[in-house]
Amino acid sequence: MDIPRLHPDTLEKVKQQVDIYDVISDYVVLKKRGKDYVGLCPFHDEKKPSFSVSVNKQLYYCFGCGQGGNAIKFLMEIGKQSFSDVIFDLAKRYQVPIKTLKSKQHKELQLQLSLREQIYEVLAITASFYQYLLHQDQGKIALNYLENERKLNKEIIQQFKLGYAPEGWQTLYNYLAEKKRYPIALIEKAGLISLRKKGSGYYDRFRNRLIIPITDVQGRVIGFGGRTLKDEQPKYLNSPETSLFKKNNTLFALDKAKNTICSLDKVVVVEGYFDAITLHAVGITNTVASLGTALSKAQLKQLLRYTDSKQIILNFDSDLAGKKATQRAISNIESLIYSGQVQLRVLHFKDGKDADEFLKSNLNAVETFQQLIDKAPLWFDWQIQQLLVNKNLKKADHFEEVAQEMVKLLNRLENSNKQIYYIHYCAGILSQGDALSLPFYIRNLQKQLKKLNLPFTKKNLLSSTISKNYYNADTSLQQAEELLLRIYLHCPEFRKKILNLLNKKDLTFSVSKYRFLWQKILETEKEINNISNNFISLLQDKILQSSHSKTQFNHIFYPNQNHQENIYRSSLQIHCALIFMEKAKLEIYSKYSYKKYKEIDPNTDLKTRQYYLNEYYTNKVKIKQLESSLNFSDLEIYGQY
Ligand code: UTP
Ligand code: MN
Repeated sequence: MDIPRLHPDTLEKVKQQVDIYDVISDYVVLKKRGKDYVGLCPFHDEKKPSFSVSVNKQLYYCFGCGQGGNAIKFLMEIGKQSFSDVIFDLAKRYQVPIKTLKSKQHKELQLQLSLREQIYEVLAITASFYQYLLHQDQGKIALNYLENERKLNKEIIQQFKLGYAPEGWQTLYNYLAEKKRYPIALIEKAGLISLRKKGSGYYDRFRNRLIIPITDVQGRVIGFGGRTLKDEQPKYLNSPETSLFKKNNTLFALDKAKNTICSLDKVVVVEGYFDAITLHAVGITNTVASLGTALSKAQLKQLLRYTDSKQIILNFDSDLAGKKATQRAISNIESLIYSGQVQLRVLHFKDGKDADEFLKSNLNAVETFQQLIDKAPLWFDWQIQQLLVNKNLKKADHFEEVAQEMVKLLNRLENSNKQIYYIHYCAGILSQGDALSLPFYIRNLQKQLKKLNLPFTKKNLLSSTISKNYYNADTSLQQAEELLLRIYLHCPEFRKKILNLLNKKDLTFSVSKYRFLWQKILETEKEINNISNNFISLLQDKILQSSHSKTQFNHIFYPNQNHQENIYRSSLQIHCALIFMEKAKLEIYSKYSYKKYKEIDPNTDLKTRQYYLNEYYTNKVKIKQLESSLNFSDLEIYGQY
């Protein structure tokens, strides 16, 4: 085989030009840490980043697997490429002229490189041509459209090099091929003309369209979007894929946005050309457009180079198509967002609007837009919101569907704190404002998840001794007892069950007024033998005769709407209420055991002391088990519902 040997000059130049950050960030999402960057190692599986890149030293090293080297070594390893292949690629990338020791190859490469340069050139000439025509008579409709309908001023029209592609089948062709003498093959490779299907010859791709040049990160024109001016289909005709223009890999306006993205450390991604142009026009210049596609992983990776904290705000159209595109974008970049490498937020306006329409729709739109960006929900909250659209949780089938979808989403979260947070959040939604059933839903979601780490060790049991949760639990316990009494009084069919369970578990009411009420209930029952309709009024008479005020039990005697709904789900409620009561009992005993254990002098009665410590542990474990069957791990959240 004819392997070209590189000239040492070329090698030297490539080494000087190549930037390790640039090279590696194509493959790894890098975050700044101190002077260096870190990311997830591409050479082995890991969850926490141990792969570091030093821009100063131009070296990478993985503390996990020990791989390391310079940019060239990286590319050889990651692409399984030979040294000279890597150098050739890098030379092309950084436009280093390649000298080889074999002259034939040298020429071929030169040719390839110069073809790219020539395409850039013909595109630049074309952009100027269109731009010029926009300001001629024939371009009047297009200019009018921009100024009057799009409300764009001269500066922004100039900044985006907007233009007009004239009517006629061969206007551009004639200009480029005949006047400027560019080779036809070159114009075709630039995506500007197509071969006629019938007969011979070529015709212009863009005719009577408003022209929006698409540029690369360095601001060089790589293609065009052409908007119809008279409702023709397609609305936007774009350049075909060429050696310079890859739609999936290009972000519109990135060259103009990159500095602000860096300084604001976040980027807004919109769908359309004009969304981006309008946002730039009003000064929100950290905006790029995804060219109508859902954001691809390659597009995202480009953006991540400019924001250290990796904040992306997706602001796609709020119509159905835009929402679908958002979902697709999320799944395109799923691995990066679920692992927390990207902070994705989603912003949708009401009534199907896109950014451009929103900005034109009200007076303070710019300010409002800025605020909405800052408040935009994280992608996960947005996805949960989407699950609930058109769903009525009071209907069993809807409820089931939503719960299942929630589990699917929760399963994908890799960070356990996030997972715990969102389990509570979802349970809050499923419990529909009913505090007592919340723990049940938390537990239920947890059971359905594939992986979940809950911290549970002897050490943290001891350190939390009498946990602060115990006090927070008071209100819940009170609620639980209240509820149990309410069910007992209003749902006779559950009375037997409640009595049995209380006896079996040897539980009493711990809130004193409820202990009193319970006693009166039992007394009344005994007296009338058979529970009749006037049971409650008899009970009330009994209470009147005591020193207790009658009204303090009104919320139990006369349930409101909300209480009635709870009663409706009595089985579950009883279950939860009893767990609360049982837990309260165990807490008291374990407090007692711990106190004893502390009091007893190990020198006199080591055995008893050990016994209480054991009791303490055993009870703590039981409590933990109860908690995990309800999950009290976040009583603050519990208290909110
Ligand atoms: P939209 O249809 O939302 O366009 O497509 P828009 O930008 O809001 O349209 P107007 O000009 O304000 O009426 C969003 C983006 O999708 C791509 C374009 O990049 C467009 O800006 N697109 C859309 C196409 O490439 N071709 C099409 O036919 C339509
Ligand atoms: Mn739109």
